[in-house]
Order: sequence, then C-alpha cells, then structure tokens
Amino acid sequence: MFNQEIDYVDAPPLAFAFDIDGVLLRGPHVIPAARRALAILEGDNPMRKKIPYILLTNGGGSSEEARCQKLTAQLGFNIHPLQFIQSHTILKTVAQDYADRPVLVLGGRNGEVRKVAEEYGFKNAYTTLDVLAWNPAVWPFHTLTPSEQQSVKSADFSRTPIAAIFVFHDPRNWALDIQIICDAIQSGGIIGATPTVQHVRPSGPRRPELFFCNGDMLWKSDFQRPRFGQGAFRVAFQAVYESLTGSKYPCVQYGKPTEATYMFAKQVLRDRFRDLYGRVSVKEPHVYMVGDNPESDVIGANAAGWSSLLVRTGVYDPRQGPPAHVPTHEVEDVLEAVTWAIEREM
Ligand code: G3P
Ligand code: MG
Repeated sequence: MFNQEIDYVDAPPLAFAFDIDGVLLRGPHVIPAARRALAILEGDNPMRKKIPYILLTNGGGSSEEARCQKLTAQLGFNIHPLQFIQSHTILKTVAQDYADRPVLVLGGRNGEVRKVAEEYGFKNAYTTLDVLAWNPAVWPFHTLTPSEQQSVKSADFSRTPIAAIFVFHDPRNWALDIQIICDAIQSGGIIGATPTVQHVRPSGPRRPELFFCNGDMLWKSDFQRPRFGQGAFRVAFQAVYESLTGSKYPCVQYGKPTEATYMFAKQVLRDRFRDLYGRVSVKEPHVYMVGDNPESDVIGANAAGWSSLLVRTGVYDPRQGPPAHVPTHEVEDVLEAVTWAIEREM
C-alpha cells in the first residue's frame, strides 16, 4: 500500500480505518466499545506502540476541524483533522476548478455547507435556500424560517449561470432540492431563464455538472432501523429527472465505496504514518477497515486491498441474512475488531 521508497522502522505492522456511524457512534451516542478500542490503538496494547488510524466516514455537513472537535469530546481521544476524512473532504481537490464560477452546494443546515465550500476554495457558492429567497415561487410549499432567512446570500438567478452542483451532505428538503437541481439542469444553469422549449435539454457540454459525495442508501443512527442516506436522495432525484426527460442525468459519485475516496484515504493514512513514525524502515503495514455497511465499508475496503471487519452494531443485521459483500471477518463490535486484528498481526 505504501510507496516503496518511503520506509518506516519501529512502526507497528498494522493500521486502521474506522467508519463512524454504526461503528463508533449511533446518532449522538458513543457505542460503548469505541472508547476502549481507541485506548488500545493509542498505546494500551501488547506492542506498547501507538497504532495509526484514520476515521473514514460518509457523514459530513460541517468543517473537518469542527467535526474533529466534536469527535474528540465524544470519544475522549484527540481526533486530528489530518486523520479524518468525511464524504466531501475529497472536494478540496476539485475546488480550484470552480474557484470563481457560481456553484450550488447542497445538504446540511442553514448555510453551514456554504462555509465549508468557501473554506475549500469555492468562492461563489450558493444554496437552494438562496434560490428560494430570490424567488419564493420556485417552490411555493416552503416558507423560509427565520434562521434559514439569516443564512441566505442574495443573488439574481436569472443572471447567475450555475456551473456545477455539489451535494456535500444529506439534503434536508428533498423536494426543494430536487426541484432546483432539475431547474438548473433544464435551464442549462440559469435557473431563472425563460424556457425556450418544454423540458429544454442543455445543448453542448452537459452543464451544470452534478457531484454526489455519499452513495449510502442507508445509515445507522440511533433509531431502531437504518435511515435513508444521500444515496436515497440521489435515487429520488434520478427517478424524477428520468420521468421528466426519459434518461438519468450523468453525475460524479464520491464517498465510500468509490475508488477515488479510498485512494484519497490511502494518502491520508500514509501521511498519518509519517506524522507518527517518520521515514524509517519496516515491512508494509496491513490496513484493517472497520465498518458497519457492507455496501460502502466492506466492498470498498476489499477493493482497496485492505482487510474488512464487519461489525454488528450498525446497518448490517445478521438476522436479515448474510452480508451482500463478504468481509475478511465478522465481529460483534469495534473492540472485537481491534483485538482480533492485533492478535492476528502479533
Ligand atoms: O450521513 C452519514 C451516513 O451516510 C453514513 O456515515 O460514518 O457510516 O460512513 P458512516
Ligand atoms: Mg457506518
């Protein structure tokens, strides 16, 4: 996994990538096994070494720094932004392509995602609430709440050509967001343009480009059954768009299990090793991904050449039958995952 020229000595022979929802947290609650598992990796293990780990989540909606502060308080160990990847972190690598071009950023609450987008380098980011504030007739079934009103940025969307749409995090108002995505596509990016033909299809290169950051149909919160994730929103949008136009709209998908996100995670883990152990020689570490969702954690880790450890504390429920993708090993929880992997590497 690591670049041969960069060697490490004294580093332990393994590392971990942890999913968050359903592995470390359930909604706002810390899963009991999580703190003990992290204590082992922080040094309380037979190797008497810090075992490098990163957090790799399809969650999002706030800055990496803000989320890491919250995770540090919840888990009781310092989670550094350099060991943390959330669904939209990878968008840092594309922001410069859209630096000054108007883009729509979707998901999260009241403009929080706009702030994240601007920190990434998107200087001209708008939300669907901005569009509704510009013209309430865009979606007459929602009136901006006072806090939403405070979050909007003024713009004239009859003269703002939207170049791309980024679904950073899970949309809160699917109807409003699907309506505005379809408006932006069918108007060729200028939402307020008067349609020239019914169901206008933008001629020339597809615009706006459409990006999703998390393909999860389901995720485990603190409700008994898994909840719909951003992948369900994408399915809903594509169903509406296809009924309008006869075809699905091409889009770019990031997040687990995409190769782009796991390649990005490999670089973050490589950097984490360098931060902890510098450039000294040891054999290539073995990476264990601990996840609760076979569709994002198991299939993604297996394809990345990592070992996948599937826990029973999240989306995966053995009572529903075997997992859709076979993990390296199935465990009760994240503590069993960590102890099993360490014993295997001793
Ligand atoms: O929105 C978060 C959800 O899709 C899953 O998060 O941490 O299980 O990848 P996670
Ligand atoms: Mg999960």
